[in-house]
Amino acid sequence: MEQTIREVFISNYDELPVRLGKAVVIEDREIAVFRLTNGNVKAIENKCPHRGGVLSEGMISGEHVFCPLHDWKINVNDGLVQAPDKGCVQTYKTRIEGNQVYVELPQ
Ligand code: FES
Repeated sequence: MEQTIREVFISNYDELPVRLGKAVVIEDREIAVFRLTNGNVKAIENKCPHRGGVLSEGMISGEHVFCPLHDWKINVNDGLVQAPDKGCVQTYKTRIEGNQVYVELPQ
């Protein structure tokens, strides 16, 4: 069966700090939103697969976030934990329209 997608407004673009995360709660999901230096906005699950570190509080470098607890490095495009560690977080597509940023969620 095809999965239905819905878009939810998360923030104004100009209110997202560059290279700093922002935590957004939508229903039962906590999402970490990052505005990268290249202007893109990325959204991933706000929970490190290691021991639940809050990724929106991590350091951003390029297209990776470093977990604030034990420094695991996670790609914000595909959610993959970088070697030597292993795991992944859920990623969400984002869309920017004018000054508004939306995230796609499964129905
Ligand atoms: S909880 Fe994220 S690296 Fe340990």
